[in-house]
Amino acid sequence: MPTLGIIGSGNIGAAVARLAVAAGIPVVVANSRGPESLTGLIAELGPLATAGTVEQAARAGDLVLLSVPLTAHTAIPAGLLDDTIVLDTSNYYPYRDGRIAELDQDKITTSELVHRHFRGARLVKAFNNILAHHIPQLARPAGAADRTALPIAGDDAAAKSAAATLIDQLGYDTVDAGPLAQSWRFEPEAAAYTRLYLADPATPGEQMMQAPAGPVAAAGLRRALDAAERVHVAGRAF
Ligand SMILES: NC(=O)c1ccc[n+]([C@@H]2O[C@H](COP(=O)([O-])OP(=O)(O)OC[C@H]3O[C@@H](n4cnc5c(N)ncnc54)[C@H](OP(=O)(O)O)[C@@H]3O)[C@@H](O)[C@H]2O)c1
Repeated sequence: MPTLGIIGSGNIGAAVARLAVAAGIPVVVANSRGPESLTGLIAELGPLATAGTVEQAARAGDLVLLSVPLTAHTAIPAGLLDDTIVLDTSNYYPYRDGRIAELDQDKITTSELVHRHFRGARLVKAFNNILAHHIPQLARPAGAADRTALPIAGDDAAAKSAAATLIDQLGYDTVDAGPLAQSWRFEPEAAAYTRLYLADPATPGEQMMQAPAGPVAAAGLRRALDAAERVHVAGRAF
C-alpha cells in the first residue's frame, strides 16, 4: 500500500493514523516538536508507522493528511506540498484562531484559504466535519450495512477520486460535495457538520465530546449537504 504522510499528530491526525495502520497502510507522522516527541504514538501504532519531520511526512507518498490548527498552516513551507494530494482537515474557529477577515465576510471557504498558501497542492477537504473521537467509532469495512459517509470537496477530480479511495480503505464511504468553494456546506455549524454524526441528534452541545456516534449513510449525508445553508461566520457562536 502507498504510504500516507500525516502532518499533525493531534486528535484528528492520530485518529486517522490508527485507521491507516489498521488497514495496512504505512504512515509517516510529523508534528511541530519533531520525531523524537512521537515515540509513544509510534509505539502504539506499531511497525507500519514511523515518525518524521514535516518534510519527510510531506514527501512520504502521493497523499498527505494535513491536520494542524488553521493558523499553523502558513508555518509549513508552501512548496513542500506541490503536486501532492492533500487531505485538509482544517476548520475556522475565531475564538481559537483569531479573526480572519475574508472568512468572516464569507468571501472564501477555509480550505480555499489553505489552498491559497499551498497553491501547488491538489487540495481535498476531508475529515473536518467529524469529531475525532467519532472517527474510530464509525469506521467499518467496505460493504458493511451500517457504513458511514464523509463529505469531500475539491477542485481536482482525480485528487478527489484518490482521496475517496483512501477514505474507503480507512473505513468510510464518501460523498462529493463539489468544489472547495462549496465546502461551507460542511463547515462548523452547517447542516453536514459534526452534530450529524451523533447517535442522539438532540445531544446538548456541552455533552458532544462524550456522546456516542451513530452511522450516517451516503444518502443521509447528501440530504444534509443539499439542505445546508451558509452559516455566516461573523455571526457564529464560536
Ligand atoms: N478535534 C476534532 O474533533 C476536530 C474535528 C474536525 C476537524 N478538526 C480540525 O482539524 C485540525 C486539527 O485539529 P486537532 O484537534 O487534531 O488539533 P490538535 O489536537 O491541536 O493537533 C494539532 C497538531 O498539529 C501540529 N502542528 C501545529 N503546528 C504545526 C506545524 N507548524 N508543523 C507541523 N505540525 C504542527 C501539532 O504539533 P504538536 O503535537 O507538536 O503540538 C499537533 O500535533 C484543526 O483545524 C481542527 O479545527 C478537529
